[in-house]
Amino acid sequence: MSGPPSGMVSPTGCPVSERAAAFTPFEGDYQLDPAEALRWARAQEPVFYSPQLGYWVVTRYEDVKAVFRDNILFSPANALEKVTPLTPEAAKVLERYNYKLERTMVNEDEPQHMERRRLLMDAFIPEKLEKHEPMVRELTRAYVDRIVDRGHADLVKDIFYEIPLTVALHFLGVPEEGVEKLRRFAVAHTLNTWGRPTPEEQLEIVENVGQFWQTANEILDTMIADPTGEGWMYDTVREHRKHPDIVTESYMRSMMMAILAAAHETTSNATANAFWILLNNRNAWDEICENPALIPSAVEECLRMGGSIVAWRRVATDEAQVGGVTIPKGGKLFIVQASANQDAAHWENPDEVDIYRDNAAEHMSFGYGAHQCMGKNIARMEMRVFLEEFTRRLPHMKLAGGQRFENLPNISFRGPSHIHVEWDPAENPERRDPALREGGVVFPIGAPVRDDILRRVRVQEIVEEAEGVKRFVLADLSGRDLPRWSPGSHIDVVAGDVRRKYSLCGPPDTPGTLEISILREEDGQGGSKHLHDTLKPGDTLSIAGPKNHFRLDETAERYVLIAGGIGITPILAMADRLKARGLPYVLHYCGRSRGTMALVSRVLRDHGGAVRLHVADEGTRLDLAEAVADVAPGTQVYCCGPERMLDALQDMAEHWPDGALHFEYFSTGASGLDPAKEHAFTVELRDSDLTVEVPADRTLYDVLKSTGIDIPMECGEGLCGTCEARVVEGEVDHRDRVLSKAERAKGERIMSCCSRAKGKKLVLGL
Ligand code: HEM
Ligand code: FES
Repeated sequence: MSGPPSGMVSPTGCPVSERAAAFTPFEGDYQLDPAEALRWARAQEPVFYSPQLGYWVVTRYEDVKAVFRDNILFSPANALEKVTPLTPEAAKVLERYNYKLERTMVNEDEPQHMERRRLLMDAFIPEKLEKHEPMVRELTRAYVDRIVDRGHADLVKDIFYEIPLTVALHFLGVPEEGVEKLRRFAVAHTLNTWGRPTPEEQLEIVENVGQFWQTANEILDTMIADPTGEGWMYDTVREHRKHPDIVTESYMRSMMMAILAAAHETTSNATANAFWILLNNRNAWDEICENPALIPSAVEECLRMGGSIVAWRRVATDEAQVGGVTIPKGGKLFIVQASANQDAAHWENPDEVDIYRDNAAEHMSFGYGAHQCMGKNIARMEMRVFLEEFTRRLPHMKLAGGQRFENLPNISFRGPSHIHVEWDPAENPERRDPALREGGVVFPIGAPVRDDILRRVRVQEIVEEAEGVKRFVLADLSGRDLPRWSPGSHIDVVAGDVRRKYSLCGPPDTPGTLEISILREEDGQGGSKHLHDTLKPGDTLSIAGPKNHFRLDETAERYVLIAGGIGITPILAMADRLKARGLPYVLHYCGRSRGTMALVSRVLRDHGGAVRLHVADEGTRLDLAEAVADVAPGTQVYCCGPERMLDALQDMAEHWPDGALHFEYFSTGASGLDPAKEHAFTVELRDSDLTVEVPADRTLYDVLKSTGIDIPMECGEGLCGTCEARVVEGEVDHRDRVLSKAERAKGERIMSCCSRAKGKKLVLGL
């Protein structure tokens, strides 16, 4: 608990702390910055009861995800419930309009929800969304044309409200209604559902909500009368005719109104948030102007830092545990996605805007599981087009001074009401090159492609480290610090078609630069030879990362570190860290001859007493079995070296305590997918409540991605562990180099980029 009790008790009879008692999402700190306002809770009281709200507030990433994941125990039935009850006078007004907003999709329980979602999800799959992109682009171009020579604009009022609305109407199949009227309706719907209006304000709001209901019903009636049109609501009407018990009339009426607001307000706000964040973090803006390939990852990072839905609601259908706190049956949960999105237990440097962050797509802004936002890929596509058009045509645009972030006062939706920007039209790039108006990079629909998240760096220094080994010191192109990294991290170096991973090995006290040591491999695929033979100080390179798939667990009692040849690079970084922490370790380093052993003088200088050098031509070969003879509980072994060394160690480790061995392979030796030798299998996705077929000629990862599941992927060949999924049932044919034999035997994890089912079916926790 975060502090002294307030004298209040929760519905389970527990004392409520003073901070929990003081918490209100309707005003003050939460309205300014919800993640910041709940920093104390993430650290001290991650799940607490808020007497002012009457909800249990959930603030940590893992807990928020766990609540989203279980939509049976945590029902979404209260997602659209009014957080401020209606006054009797306001209720009368709504009665007059015959207002009956009931279950839609987002607040429907199982099994009805998934039956409905399955029938209606076709229009949202990535390949079906591609056709909408040219229309979004045309529209954006036309709107930018209106302001490009003006030199100033209010981005929200002039552009970000109207385009998502027009796109939403087009997607739904609704004729373009008066923009002003729909904006008024959407604002009223937000305040009515998620705001705390006074009784007088309620009266005005419900008039608009009533008219919204009426308008939505009129539109629907026209569609029902002639359901031949194109668009998602026409699909809905047609499915209603075929399955009236699943796509019910009440659903259609409620959804028509709810989606008219949800499909565009969320996207307008998220776009405005993204521009606000990037223009306030000028480096990030400048970097995407220079390198538009970064736009999808910038969008994802903005959705993490500035999602337009900051909190969502669920209700416990039974007594439940969340983050160790007991929630009573019927307890209402306020799950704060904005807080989860900045939880230091899940994110590195959570408060920094980092457009190179390669796991940004794990944000909770679209929810998670069976109810995850169906429109997420429409929103992503629109936001990417907006950023691409603006950074190309108005890269010099700046925020006008003296602005504050003004939000509609409510607990869930967030976005600035205005963004005033200015620029000098004389500097518009298209005045020099008119072709720039037409340019434009088209991005694939879906989560960002990790291969595109590349950073340009300069080779600052090259040092001969040993025979055939060079050390490269890399610095940021514009002199900024390169990111911090942890032992075991690597970067991918990308040169033309070649992409290779190299572990970071710089001394821990040189922040700002990155160092890699590369062995020139005569019989390799050419990547290392190319880097050795062509790179000179001052050259530029593209890199991805740092990323860490070989983490050092710093809680062990003692460590055995084993490096073979160039495998010293991550191992040395680990030794540096253990030394700095004062933890006991032994470092075995083996090689053919001293002259070929990279970094050997630094190894001996910095780790002298802990080092055991094993040099073949000096007759001091490593006896692996002896080096690990006394692995006891509390010991952890980290190894990086040639494949045969890692294979041998894995055999020895079969009877070691769980999690004692950690290793990193740098190639799989696997030779791709051969459809003639594979068999098709079925995969049930337990969290999303979906079943998909994986044919013999496609990977599991491919099928998941085309179904709209945001599973990250990096190496694509079973080396890194990024594409991991939880196995609930079924036997896996493991083809990766990430899991140890013991982990494979447990059968709880699968690398979706390469591994498959042994039998006909797998059940996954996705
Ligand atoms: C559901 C956020 C754009 C359609 C949701 C949910 C969230 C969300 C948080 C609830 C998720 C859950 O309960 O797990 C957003 C954000 C958007 C956005 C932040 C923009 C940046 C859109 C668009 C559309 C859309 C453009 C449609 C064109 C839906 C639908 C659901 C939903 C139909 C209900 C899904 C279900 O319950 O099965 N959205 N949304 N959303 N969203 Fe979005
Ligand atoms: Fe690297 Fe699958 S993406 S293991």
